[in-house]
Amino acid sequence: MNGPASVEIWDPVVRGFHWTLATAVLVDYWVTDPGSDLHNWIGYLAAAAVAVRIVWGFVGTRHARFASFAPSRARLHEHLAALQTRTVPLDSGHNPVGALMIYAVFLLVAVLTVTGWLHEEIDALFGNAFLQETHELAAHALWLCAIVHVASVLVVQYVGRIELVRPMITGRRRPWG
Ligand code: HEM
Ligand code: HEM
Repeated sequence: MNGPASVEIWDPVVRGFHWTLATAVLVDYWVTDPGSDLHNWIGYLAAAAVAVRIVWGFVGTRHARFASFAPSRARLHEHLAALQTRTVPLDSGHNPVGALMIYAVFLLVAVLTVTGWLHEEIDALFGNAFLQETHELAAHALWLCAIVHVASVLVVQYVGRIELVRPMITGRRRPWG
């Protein structure tokens, strides 16, 4: 089912951002030594990726723009109805709940970066309990978002019979089946 029927969904900037962020979050949550230089730099990499993505949300391609996925109740109902009838349009971008997750992820990465940076760079704040607890809480919340996110992607993909994972890899979506 390759060929002309597939449509362009995610541009290279969105895909590069996505896999950079996913890798950075995974590695900083599970692999690096908390507070090590590697941990801190990978955290800054995640923050830089988010900064680029925010700019791209204003100047990027159609589905990348924030204006194209503003969440609303009307859009939510529309999306749920389309899921039930398995008629989510082939060329659709983010759904309204996915949009909320995106903003939550941006916020959590920002909180991690600010708390981590203050802790590391301001001598008087080294060992500050509030910063450490906030950082830890944000890290767990981010990881929870990621798990719910991946589970939702798979549920929507198979229940709604619409390719989601492939377009985030290749950029293009093919008709289901
Ligand atoms: C994607 C971003 C990040 C994630 C997912 C993340 C995750 C974590 C996790 C899970 C911990 C262990 C928390 C605990 O159990 O106490 C931790 C600790 C720490 N992180 Fe991050 N982090 C991120 C970004 C950063 C950045 C940007 C910095 C600094 C510039 C930083 C500095 C630290 C420090 C100093 C600790 C140790 C705090 C302590 O001594 O308790 N992190 N981080
Ligand atoms: C720590 C792990 C992850 C994080 C933090 C994360 C975060 C995000 C973010 C922020 C977006 C919005 C992209 C944008 O508009 O620029 C997104 C979209 C997406 N992600 Fe992830 N992601 C993670 C892991 C994964 C994995 C493992 C998969 C594959 C199963 C995946 C599949 C997708 C898909 C398919 C979309 C597009 C959803 C749609 O069609 O609306 N993500 N993710």
